[in-house]
Amino acid sequence: MTKTLLLGQTLTYSGNPFLNGWEPVTHHRRRGGVLIDGAKIVEVAEADALRAAHPEAKVIDYGNHLISAGFVDAHMHYPQTGIIASWGKQLIDWLNTYTFPEETRFASRPYADEVAGRTLDLALDHGTTTLTSFCTIHPESVEAFFAAAQTRGMAVVAGKTCMDRNAPDGLRDTAQSAYDDSKRLLQAWHGRGRATYAISPRFSPTSTPDQLAALGALWAEFPDCPMQTHLSEQLPEIAWVRDLFPDARDYLDTYEAFGLLGTKGLYGHAIHLTDRERDRLAEVDASLIHCPTSNTFIGSGLFDMTGLAGRGLRVGLATDTGGGSSFSMLRTMAAAYEIGQLRGAAIHPAQLMWLATEGSARALHMSGQIGHLGAGAAADITVLDLGSTPAIAQRTSRAESVWDMVFPTLMMGDDRAVAAVWVGGTKLR
Ligand code: GUN
Ligand code: ZN
Repeated sequence: MTKTLLLGQTLTYSGNPFLNGWEPVTHHRRRGGVLIDGAKIVEVAEADALRAAHPEAKVIDYGNHLISAGFVDAHMHYPQTGIIASWGKQLIDWLNTYTFPEETRFASRPYADEVAGRTLDLALDHGTTTLTSFCTIHPESVEAFFAAAQTRGMAVVAGKTCMDRNAPDGLRDTAQSAYDDSKRLLQAWHGRGRATYAISPRFSPTSTPDQLAALGALWAEFPDCPMQTHLSEQLPEIAWVRDLFPDARDYLDTYEAFGLLGTKGLYGHAIHLTDRERDRLAEVDASLIHCPTSNTFIGSGLFDMTGLAGRGLRVGLATDTGGGSSFSMLRTMAAAYEIGQLRGAAIHPAQLMWLATEGSARALHMSGQIGHLGAGAAADITVLDLGSTPAIAQRTSRAESVWDMVFPTLMMGDDRAVAAVWVGGTKLR
């Protein structure tokens, strides 16, 4: 197979920029190259050196554009694509008013196919090459999503959302059917091509203890699979969990008690954590998924990036569409920055880009495979135009450092900044 050499500015990481400073582990090349062979990246180095060493490679020169690993969205709900930006509700009312009625429609496979394809295409338009998605209670919604990702060659993580209480008719399963359907889908899809199956209890309020126990048992049978859910997103939600589980020490305990706390656990939001919850999450090396546009849009609260990522916890970054208000991981980085500012901590652009790529991949336990611009990783690549609008270009024209050049696109950029997208070595945008 012919090799392809992408030229431009490159951004790579050799470690976690939240530990011991971002500078030692962040590497920018003004004129770099990314050599692709088949579906994989084989080398990232200076452009001239790669050109000389690989004269046979087909060269695509992106000039001053920034070549990054493709963005990895670590938590979203593809069935909510159609109701993104629905007005005026906080979490529980938002679920009941907008989300649940829409999710009932995914009993229809043709509808699920249409929204799955639309969502993955929107993600690609925005430079996102991996989505981690909740589906609905309907197995059809899971089949549709994995099939649409397979067609596009994308690595995705997804699972059947399980709910057996506090959800409307047509949107409840049972403890047994959740176990059976999840197991069947897991066995059909986990590890098939680029698919990863995530066991997916929605959150404690919509699962009975029996269902949580059944899914805990399933996870114990298939510990290689991630388990995704929601944790401590909004104060009224936490009060509701306290009422529903009077014996639990805290929200996390409603998972822990049923075998749903573990290293491969992905806990969305994780905003209002107690000290015990923080310590337990750190102890088991679980992943927290920060969903900043959702946390402002639904009015949930301010994630403690410094306290959690700074402690070495696995933190991924996510759009959480349709609770989140954007398909763009650029906009998501901007919101993460803004929330950091509201907490008195300015997250550096090197850290923001790391979160959207390496950090999310680490949270998903896929480090080195995706979200990584380096040898051996999948050639999932996003090329950013750092002057994509007049407003951004007039700012970068006076840039004095690489971060002056990158940060305006993180704060002000959208899909117009996405100059090219490669998935598994194939150019899709
Ligand atoms: N908690 C339980 N379900 C959801 C959901 O769909 N979106 C958000 N943001 N939080 C949730
Ligand atoms: Zn969510």
